[in-house]
Amino acid sequence: MQKNDLIFVAGHRGLVGSAIVRRLRALGFTNLLLRTRQELDLADMAAVRAMFLAERPAYVFFAAAKVGGIMANNSYPAEFIRDNLLIQLNVIDAAHASDVKKMLFLGSSCIYPKFAEQPIREESLLTGALEPTNEPYAVAKIAGIVTCRSYNRQYGTRYISAMPTNLYGEGDNFDRNGSHVLPALIRRFHEAKLAGEPEVVVWGSGTPQREFLHVDDMADASVHLMQVWAEAGRDGGIVGGPNAVNEIVNVGYGSDVSIRELAELVREIVKYEGSLIFDSSKPDGTPRKLLDSSRLQATGWSPRVELREGISRTYQWFLEHHEEARLGTATAR
Ligand SMILES: NC(=O)c1ccc[n+]([C@@H]2O[C@H](COP(=O)([O-])OP(=O)(O)OC[C@H]3O[C@@H](n4cnc5c(N)ncnc54)[C@H](OP(=O)(O)O)[C@@H]3O)[C@@H](O)[C@H]2O)c1
Repeated sequence: MQKNDLIFVAGHRGLVGSAIVRRLRALGFTNLLLRTRQELDLADMAAVRAMFLAERPAYVFFAAAKVGGIMANNSYPAEFIRDNLLIQLNVIDAAHASDVKKMLFLGSSCIYPKFAEQPIREESLLTGALEPTNEPYAVAKIAGIVTCRSYNRQYGTRYISAMPTNLYGEGDNFDRNGSHVLPALIRRFHEAKLAGEPEVVVWGSGTPQREFLHVDDMADASVHLMQVWAEAGRDGGIVGGPNAVNEIVNVGYGSDVSIRELAELVREIVKYEGSLIFDSSKPDGTPRKLLDSSRLQATGWSPRVELREGISRTYQWFLEHHEEARLGTATAR
């Protein structure tokens, strides 16, 4: 990637997309192509193709998706599979039609089987049944990976798929119904502290193990992957051996915590003094989800933001951006 190359960041107002934009700008990549949903609905095939053919971006960071926590996935399964399939096919096909040099497609660790061997290696893909609560989303993401692979095989494109673990950080979604566990806990403890509530109820048993990566690390890894891959060249093999273009790459922190440990940590950072109750009648989801990120680490990358520091920064951001933080109620379209 050259400093003046035109780079399209799809989903630049989201958690990951905005962090990728910050990282690119910090590195001196200033020729960024950015479109809000109002300017370009990525579900609109004709509009997406027209934009790609008119602008001809050289590189694409594909961070747009319909994303949400367990509750949103459970409530709107049709939207999760439909929107993601539409967005993916439109962007991948338009990238091919307009000769994009390289694209980084963002998947998710939920693509792996519910009972995949831990830590989860990239080879586990499509070896077992998925976690039912987010199956429509996971199937859409798997379709995205396979679409990238298929275009690479048939058309010689260079699309790589990064599988991030659970992400969090400044700019996160704090919506009561749509958010992931970490921002949901931050908001819940904060509000309980202000209201002087004696206890906070956390969904599930507290025993599932989860891995969390700060979004700045994810953005750093995304730019790194695009660059390492460029240095490696199509067949150079730094990422994933001789079939580099067909590969998927896990992006994780390297260790996990239980939801109970996470909740205790958030409680401490928010300074909430009430008690913690775990509601075991609510779904736990996958028992453990830790990625094996050795393929990425072998390229010389490692995370820098430690969990406690990352949560403190995220809470600080939440305090300073109450107004603009996504606090609304998720609604079906
Ligand atoms: N957050 C995580 O923990 C996590 C973990 C693993 C993987 N990932 C992956 O990382 C990627 C980005 O996730 P995120 O957490 O950054 O999500 P996010 O904060 O919800 O951002 C998604 C972005 O995509 C945009 N978008 C969605 N549908 C669109 C459409 N039809 N047209 C135009 N823009 C559209 C959204 O626009 P609006 O602002 O208008 O809604 C938003 O800016 C996803 O592929 C996700 O699977 C995320």
